[in-house]
Amino acid sequence: MNSNSVQTMKGRIESITALPTIPANLKRIAIMLEKPRLTLEELARFISHDPALATKVLTMVNSAYFGFPERISSISHAVMLLGLNAIRGLLLGVSVFDLMQENMNGLWEHSCACAVAARCIAQQKEFKKSEEVSVCALLHDIGKVTIMLRYPAEYEQILCSTQERSMTIYDVEKLFFPASHAEAGGWLAQKCRFPPNLVEAIGFHHRPQIAKQAPLETAIVHVADILVRAKGVGFSGDDLVPLVQQSAWQLLRLSDREVHDILIQIEDSIPLPGGSC
Ligand SMILES: [Fe+2]
Ligand SMILES: [Fe+2]
Repeated sequence: MNSNSVQTMKGRIESITALPTIPANLKRIAIMLEKPRLTLEELARFISHDPALATKVLTMVNSAYFGFPERISSISHAVMLLGLNAIRGLLLGVSVFDLMQENMNGLWEHSCACAVAARCIAQQKEFKKSEEVSVCALLHDIGKVTIMLRYPAEYEQILCSTQERSMTIYDVEKLFFPASHAEAGGWLAQKCRFPPNLVEAIGFHHRPQIAKQAPLETAIVHVADILVRAKGVGFSGDDLVPLVQQSAWQLLRLSDREVHDILIQIEDSIPLPGGSC
């Protein structure tokens, strides 16, 4: 990397939508999300005016990823059920779907399975905003896509190094850059005006022990990520299964039965070929 300063990297990640290779619809969505005081009505109108986007959002809302018992057929209903923060996250999630598919095969499947696992843990722990945590898990590795787009040659090297050195992608990233995909994802989430608890859960999902504002959300995303890796669903840059941080494990206190149920839900969520989440 030419400049090893965190500020340089942050600036480049935050201006990701200025890249000529970023699709126009993602640019429009990012501009929309950066608006201060965005309302549910504005968001619903924005999604409804774009049939392709509306279809993607409805497909996701009706997938195993949210697990709503009844079918949701309108954007206004979806927006009402999910709430502002979850729908904002979902919008960003579906808009980077194609980029994820193009840039790292398997990352979308990994992300969707994490979303399912996180929702399951949140419900087991009776955490009220399970949809928000689930969307957060969907976006937790979004930083990988942003670094890959900004630093494609270096990221290619990183991906090769994980195999050669048998290290996690997170650890190899830190050898190449002053910050990892977790921080990069947190910067993007902040730029898109996500609430601080979601920014923290994305930014600290590999270091849940330092989360201050949202230790529970961060622990959920951290554990969901590792369980999905252990289950071998999708691909997140390497095939290793890191240890769960003790503080996160102690915070959640999952029983064997609960872990078993999460693993079953992850398995049930594996998409059929050609399906979305
Ligand atoms: Fe990660
Ligand atoms: Fe991950």
